Amino acid sequence: MNKTILVTGGAGFIGSNFVMGWLAQSDATVINLDYLTYAGNMENLTSLEGDNRHIFVKGSIGDAELITGLLATHQPCAVVNFAAESHVDRSIHSPEDFIQTNIVGTFRLLDATRGYWNGLSTEDKAAFRFLHVSTDEVYGSLKKDDPAFSETNRYEPNSPYSASKAASDHLVRAYHHTYGLPVLTTNCSNNYGPFHFPEKLIPLLITNALANKNLPVYGDGQQIRDWLYVADHCSGIRRVLEAGRVGETYNIGGWNEMANIDIVHTVCDLLDEARPRADGKSYREQITFVTDRPGHDRRYAIDASKIEQELGWKPAETFATGIRKTVQWYLDNPEWVAHVQSGAYRDWVEKNYAGRD
Ligand code: NAD
Ligand code: TYD
Repeated sequence: MNKTILVTGGAGFIGSNFVMGWLAQSDATVINLDYLTYAGNMENLTSLEGDNRHIFVKGSIGDAELITGLLATHQPCAVVNFAAESHVDRSIHSPEDFIQTNIVGTFRLLDATRGYWNGLSTEDKAAFRFLHVSTDEVYGSLKKDDPAFSETNRYEPNSPYSASKAASDHLVRAYHHTYGLPVLTTNCSNNYGPFHFPEKLIPLLITNALANKNLPVYGDGQQIRDWLYVADHCSGIRRVLEAGRVGETYNIGGWNEMANIDIVHTVCDLLDEARPRADGKSYREQITFVTDRPGHDRRYAIDASKIEQELGWKPAETFATGIRKTVQWYLDNPEWVAHVQSGAYRDWVEKNYAGRD
């Protein structure tokens, strides 16, 4: 079977890192299907300009006809689904987009893939994989002393975002059990790294700090997330694609739980070192506690022992090394930052932060 893969959402944060990481270790062609919503950015892919192993197609995972055509033309051996609406705060303001893309879109992608897969030879059917990229947020919120999420935790999503991702995970599972589609699902913790859109905490902190703006901390800042460097998430996905057991789910995490306020302090300290403020004061001066997010999950933590024991995967970066690289990347790429802070981005910032005390 040909080694081409179809990646969806490959112009977003994790998807673009995945496509670049994939092409750095394989000569197989990548078909990159992305709808280029506000979060999709062709500037994430400029390093691939002129590389004929990368075929970009603008379109939606909700467009069954388009996907059927792409699958028939390119005959991929795998589909890796990153395409989604991904920001919790936006899901609170506009849940409808999350239902359409994450649930209906994933359904259409699955169903078109099933049609293609049914037509493959027995050998190619066995080799084919549909890998669905999901989140730890489907498991809900942990209390301080609860054990970390394992793959057998109940699904208890709390936001429209996590509920829509949970629904998509269930559809993926059902397509395996009902139709035999060879699926894999990964549930990963919070990512950070290059090309992260600055609506999310870490890039928002870096870009706001440098622009002399407030660093908004929701509530008491004691919410805990388990941070993973994006290249490690991508290597985990590659490993699951290569060796994961069909029908299984794998949690991917960094064994790195941190309270938000500690993330904020770390980013400030790194910037104080790399790009000190003109007045000699710390970027910590810009920290502002603001009204909490409604329904804010208190703690996420991933138990990544299944992927480690079964597939031998471990993150390469620690938080200390990954966050340093990340801060440096934003300092080195002011043009990328300037371009993503378009009028639409400014409208979002106004919408999300204006009503907070
Ligand atoms: P992102 O918002 O940066 O990128 C999403 C991409 O999907 C964008 O390029 C966008 O244009 C594209 N897209 C949106 N709707 C589409 C559609 N209908 N058809 C085709 N493309 C469409 O998101 P991200 O942070 O890169 O997340 C990627 C995936 O990983 C998502 O499924 C998300 O749920 C999951 N995930 C993210 C994190 C994280 O920390 N960011 C953690 C775990 C899992
Ligand atoms: P975010 O990056 O939006 O990821 P998620 O909500 O998917 O975990 O937020 C990470 C954490 O940071 C989360 O607890 C919410 C918090 N947060 C802030 O305190 N201030 C902000 O301006 C943002 C965007 C997030």
